[in-house]
Amino acid sequence: SAGLPLQRIGTRITCLQEVDSTNLVAYRLAEQGAVEGTIVIADHQTGGKGRLGRRWESPAGVNLYCSVILRPQILPLYAPQLTFVSSVAVVDAILRTTNLQPVIKWPNDVLVNGQKVAGLLNEMSAETERVDFLVLGIGVNINMNREQFPVDLRHPATSLAIEAGRKIDRLQFARVLLESLDALYAAYLAEGYEPLRRRWLAHSAVMGRTVRVTSGENVVVGVVEGIDEHGGLVLSCAGGRHERVLAGDVAICNE
Ligand code: BTN
Repeated sequence: SAGLPLQRIGTRITCLQEVDSTNLVAYRLAEQGAVEGTIVIADHQTGGKGRLGRRWESPAGVNLYCSVILRPQILPLYAPQLTFVSSVAVVDAILRTTNLQPVIKWPNDVLVNGQKVAGLLNEMSAETERVDFLVLGIGVNINMNREQFPVDLRHPATSLAIEAGRKIDRLQFARVLLESLDALYAAYLAEGYEPLRRRWLAHSAVMGRTVRVTSGENVVVGVVEGIDEHGGLVLSCAGGRHERVLAGDVAICNE
C-alpha cells in the first residue's frame, strides 16, 4: 500500500514499468477476480488508449497513467455516474497540489487555461441487470514538456508543469489523487449521485455555456443546463427544446 488511510481505492496497487495500456491490464485483472479498489499504475504505455478509439500519448518518466477497478452494485445504465468520480478527483488533486484552476469539460476532460491536462477512459463489463466491474482509466499530463506533444493534436493539450512553471512531484500527485478518489467513491456509496453531480457542476467549464456537441454525423447546439442521472449532457436548444446527449465531442461556442 502507499501508506495512506485508504478504505477501498488503492488498497492493492500494481506498479509496472511498461505496459500496452493500464486499462487493458486492469481489465484482465478484474476478469480474474481482482478486488474492488485494485489499481494499476505504469511509468510508460506503448498503446495508451483515448476515448473514441484515439491514442493517448504516454511517454515514460513524466506523467501518470493509472486504472482503478470498481465493483459498484448498480445497474449498467447508471455506470456513467462513476465517470465523474475520476474527473472530480483529478480536479481535487490539481487544486491540492498546485495553484492552477482546473475545470471539467463534459464528459470528463480536465482543462487548465483552456487546454487539456487529463483524460479519462472508463470501461465496463456488465450483464443486463448488473455491473460486474468498471475500469476507470486516468491519464494526467504532469511533467510532459512542449516537445513531447505531437504537433498534430486535435485539441490543444498541456501539462501541469508547463502551466505551473515548475516540476510537479509525480508520487505526491498520485497519493493525493488516490485519497480523493477513495473519499469521493466512499461518498458516492454512502450518499449516491447527487453530491457528486453538484461537485461536477461546480467545476464544469460548460455549465450555462453554449456548446456544439458532435458525435459522428450528428451535431447538436444548445445551452448546457446540467447532467442527468445517466451522465448525459442536458441542453436547451433553439425553440426551448431540450436535448440529451450521451456521447460526443464538445466545443464551447464564443458568446
Ligand atoms: C481521453 O481523453 O481520450 C481519455 C484518455 C485516457 C488515458 C488513460 S491513461 C491510463 C489509462 N490507460 C489507457 O490506455 N488509457 C487511460
